[in-house]
Amino acid sequence: MGGKLIVFEGVEGCGKTSQMQLCCQWLQSLGISVVVTREPGGTELGLHLRHLLLEKVENKPIAEVTELLLYAADRSQHVEQELKPNLAQGKYILCDRYTDSTTAYQGYGRGLNMSLINQLNYIATGGLESDLTIWLDVDVEVGLARKKGDEAGLDRIEQEAIAFHRRVQQGYAQLAASYPSRIVRVDGSLSQESVQQVIQGILCDRLSSWR
Ligand code: TMP
Repeated sequence: MGGKLIVFEGVEGCGKTSQMQLCCQWLQSLGISVVVTREPGGTELGLHLRHLLLEKVENKPIAEVTELLLYAADRSQHVEQELKPNLAQGKYILCDRYTDSTTAYQGYGRGLNMSLINQLNYIATGGLESDLTIWLDVDVEVGLARKKGDEAGLDRIEQEAIAFHRRVQQGYAQLAASYPSRIVRVDGSLSQESVQQVIQGILCDRLSSWR
């Protein structure tokens, strides 16, 4: 049986990281071999890139295309070093963000050229798409309020204006409408337990069609 790439997406504070952990435990309890990873930062090189991308440095802005290229570099290394080898071993990969993040944040959020983004996503992934993407849909205000409660404070992207985050949210809605079989919307405003139940239901359906 081949491996599967299951991606979790959404705006800041949508709850994807905790939902992924719960999914991981549940899939493992079913005897499925699971790998949990993320972008940016799923490799050693990627951890350096994540730091460069997210640290807050006053008066040293990162140019928009530079930002796009750094996310692409992180992805290219991640695909080669982590995703492809684990998929080849039949593992189920739970990945925190992937190509749709670039479309939503750099495309809709920053307004960079979509054809450039699509080309870079293709170059970085070699055409490897997710088998399923769970989009946790929460209001931007709700998500950011959750983040503001974090002790670490807001990172460089979280600090962007609310209008930026709203464009990212619209980007996800547009992507979900364009790719209805690959991207499934889950209402992320429900309780953590209810969200997990919905996700497990979606995964149960997919598991039976994949196996
Ligand atoms: P997170 O892993 O904690 O969600 O943070 C990653 C941040 O990087 C988040 O603000 C979204 C952003 N991001 C992009 O802007 N483009 C991308 O391609 C990816 C993967 C993430």
